[in-house]
Amino acid sequence: MRTVLSFFMIFLFYASSPYVAQVSEALDSITANQSIQDGGSLVSAGGTFELGFFSTGLPSRRYLGIWYKKVATMTVVWVANRVTPLADSVGTLKVTGSGSLVLLNANGSEIWSSNSSTDARNPVAQLLDSGNLVVKDVDGTGSGFLLWQSFDYPTDTLLAGMKMGRNRTTGFERYLTSWKSIDDPSPGNFTYKIDPNGFPQSLLRQGSVVKFRSGPWNGVRYSGMPNLDPNPYYSYEFVLDDDEIYYHFELLDSSFISRLVLSSNGIVQRFTWIDRTQGWTLYLTVPIDNCDTYALCGAYGSCKIDESPVCRCLTGFTPRYSQEWDILDWSHGCVRKTPLDCGKDIFVKYPGVKLPDTGNSWFNKTMDLQECKEICKKNCSCMAYSTLDIRGGGTGCLQWFGELIDIRELNQNGQDLYIRMAASESDLLQSKQTKQKLFISLAVSFGVVSLCLVLTFCILQNKRKKMKHLKGDNSECQKEDLELPVFDLGTVAIATNNFSEENKLGEGGFGPVYKGVLEDGQEIAVKKLSRYSRQGLHEFKNEVLFISKLQHRNLVKLLGCCIQEEVLLIYEFMPNNSLDSCLFDQNQRKLLGWSTRFGIINGIARGLLYLHQDSRLRIIHRDLKAGNILLDNEMNPKISDFGSAKCFVGNETEANTLRVVGTYGYMSPEYAIDGVFSIKSDVFSYGVLVLETVSGKRNRGFCHPDHCHNLVGHAWRLFTEDRSMELVDELVESYNTAEVLRSIHVALLCVQQCPEDRPSMSALILMLGSDNELPLPKEPGFYNERKLLPESTFGHLVHSPNEVTMTSLSPR
Ligand SMILES: *[C@@H]1O[C@H](CO)[C@@H](O)[C@H](O)[C@H]1NC(C)=O
Ligand SMILES: *[C@@H]1O[C@H](CO)[C@@H](O)[C@H](O)[C@H]1NC(C)=O
Ligand SMILES: *[C@@H]1O[C@H](CO)[C@@H](O)[C@H](O)[C@H]1NC(C)=O
Ligand SMILES: *[C@@H]1O[C@H](CO)[C@@H](O)[C@H](O)[C@H]1NC(C)=O
Ligand SMILES: *[C@@H]1O[C@H](CO)[C@@H](O)[C@H](O)[C@H]1NC(C)=O
Ligand SMILES: *[C@@H]1O[C@H](CO)[C@@H](O)[C@H](O)[C@H]1NC(C)=O
Ligand SMILES: *[C@@H]1O[C@H](CO)[C@@H](O)[C@H](O)[C@H]1NC(C)=O
Repeated sequence: MRTVLSFFMIFLFYASSPYVAQVSEALDSITANQSIQDGGSLVSAGGTFELGFFSTGLPSRRYLGIWYKKVATMTVVWVANRVTPLADSVGTLKVTGSGSLVLLNANGSEIWSSNSSTDARNPVAQLLDSGNLVVKDVDGTGSGFLLWQSFDYPTDTLLAGMKMGRNRTTGFERYLTSWKSIDDPSPGNFTYKIDPNGFPQSLLRQGSVVKFRSGPWNGVRYSGMPNLDPNPYYSYEFVLDDDEIYYHFELLDSSFISRLVLSSNGIVQRFTWIDRTQGWTLYLTVPIDNCDTYALCGAYGSCKIDESPVCRCLTGFTPRYSQEWDILDWSHGCVRKTPLDCGKDIFVKYPGVKLPDTGNSWFNKTMDLQECKEICKKNCSCMAYSTLDIRGGGTGCLQWFGELIDIRELNQNGQDLYIRMAASESDLLQSKQTKQKLFISLAVSFGVVSLCLVLTFCILQNKRKKMKHLKGDNSECQKEDLELPVFDLGTVAIATNNFSEENKLGEGGFGPVYKGVLEDGQEIAVKKLSRYSRQGLHEFKNEVLFISKLQHRNLVKLLGCCIQEEVLLIYEFMPNNSLDSCLFDQNQRKLLGWSTRFGIINGIARGLLYLHQDSRLRIIHRDLKAGNILLDNEMNPKISDFGSAKCFVGNETEANTLRVVGTYGYMSPEYAIDGVFSIKSDVFSYGVLVLETVSGKRNRGFCHPDHCHNLVGHAWRLFTEDRSMELVDELVESYNTAEVLRSIHVALLCVQQCPEDRPSMSALILMLGSDNELPLPKEPGFYNERKLLPESTFGHLVHSPNEVTMTSLSPR
């Protein structure tokens, strides 16, 4: 039914597409004994795909491949001669009389063949609009017998309509293999295939080592990919019957272009084409975080990304080797506290998890959960069971034999797993389950959010909904109790030498900050709330609420608090002070080499990603600036000062506030002018920070003899003139040019005028870490602010030039 629908819609697309009218000159097919030479190409009838010769990097390595024709430049989706490139540009593709596609080099020797040769009488090779290159034996009626198709031999890309999986009769497999590197299409070390053992699941392997497991298909999605959500743009399906097992997706919306790629560094990425920006946007990736690492926590261990450390034993289990476990070597996993006694065992429900490895499992599609339990109970080697298909209240039975590995707790769309336990463990789990529920209710659907990010346009800016008042949101975010060590005032007084002037590090937003040393030698920083600061109290509470729940190596760590005569917050001490003090000080600046700066750029990005997406609260910092980035003794950056941060819940990614807080020079236009803040306002500030880190200059107060732009404007100007390297701090002696250019490019994507154009932090991290082509940035926001804005005002920053830009974005 679904397939029929999608074909119908694809038909509609072509019937209404303007491209049908302009039948292109290029051919879409060749017949027996015809050929195309290097330089020539086949173009599919609708003009969507092109087949031709290309090289990546070295001109002495040429390949025959298929790429998008209408959108993007040279996004290659399939390569014929991956392992045997042509040595020069004298290649020929030919259909033999017997029905094989062959690729010949300058000497006329065959370097690649489709091996589809049969006794074809009238073979034709045709490039279809789906991106499939087919060879058919065409009879008089025009249809024809399929001899071969490129969709059966995927390289690193899965297109709509392709199957990933296997024929169960013949064992023939279709799977993705990464390119060796970004410019070498020969098969790399990574594969992404469906593993048929037990209940099938997709495995991402490096060589033979499993790196990531999708989890079993539960009727709606893979169990371990909770953000795979039904959407109006493409449908996906997993088919498991006696003949075959496969996954495929189909496009439902004709304007939506999407591809799934296994990158050369082993990440499965779904990209979608955005017309407006003329670029590919990263839509989803796996693995998404550390907990996606296969079997990270070992047998009966469970990974939870919000916790530090991320691994713990399932309730009722204890580390096999506690010493190793304590030094974060979790590979040996956990063992039962109480041994099983088959006949008397019970099953305990572990809710909200990614189901364990099904490599050694058994299933029945029709049984219900009760039957499933009974069968499992009778068989002493059955360790756990669950529902197979979660649709319509759940059907089917999935049972595990042997140790349970690769379990993680999910914040959304997790499943219930019933694990065999000794009868005496029955009451242990009650408290765990209620806690879990609260946690789930707080969780936010990443899938929905990422969908908005991709598909919301600037128009929405103007149609801003009146959001729930923030007070309400915060109270929801604050439901849970704090667990914060309490320090005794006396202890802190001794540590800070009675808050002496020599120990004073500086003056923060709500009072002085002191350095101290605890009795055990640990160095601390102590923030003291000034007794007369009313604004301080609000921000102080905010800080405690947020930071006490956050744990990440790129966030400053709160060690405890003290609420006696004095109100104090105690943090880990950061010996290298703030980025601000290092970067904008003539002497300190020299000591910041490129690799340190690049490390800082990446570290801040990871911290921010954690705030926006991976932490269990979702937080907008709102005051990201060099002064709020602290540096530890290894110059690792730590985001600090959550006094202005806001928590957001549900599907909300944007809100409005009357009280604009933040720092001038880092604030995004929509925030400074309209008071609208979103995670994209943080992305803007991050972009400014990156430019400051690269150049060693402040955005505000930047001065250039040639023009009146601020640093953002200067960077933009250099970028458009292809002179970005001139932005690098003259005090940096040696640097990696590619990293510098990439950092500047990414920063300019962050400071784009329209929030929806700016990348999300997850996309950004991938951009920083890969060599993939980046979309071109559009004009930044606030880049010639000095001309437009009076100094140091916060409210009512309405200016005609900016207004013009904003209103031009009204709905079309
Ligand atoms: C292709 O070439 C071969 C050898 O020259 C010839 O025998 C055959 O008839 C040709 N086939 C077609 C369809 O022209
Ligand atoms: C073609 O043949 C010559 C001589 O046998 C050889 O030197 C050359 O490398 C060959 N070229 C290709 C492209 O194989
Ligand atoms: C075609 O067959 C030849 C010889 O058996 C083999 O070396 C080659 O790899 C095959 N080509 C493909 C694309 O499978
Ligand atoms: C699996 O392969 C067999 C043998 O080639 C073929 O008859 C069958 O149609 C294939 N099944 C599917 C679903 O393609
Ligand atoms: C592939 O893996 C092997 C061994 O695991 C390693 O030696 C080799 O460097 C890897 N190649 C690439 C391109 O990563
Ligand atoms: C699955 O369970 C149903 C109902 O219990 C049973 O009739 C059927 O034979 C089972 N199928 C398999 C393959 O065990
Ligand atoms: C338990 O189930 C497994 C898998 O279905 C089966 O191989 C084994 O024979 C069963 N053992 C008993 C005692 O029924």
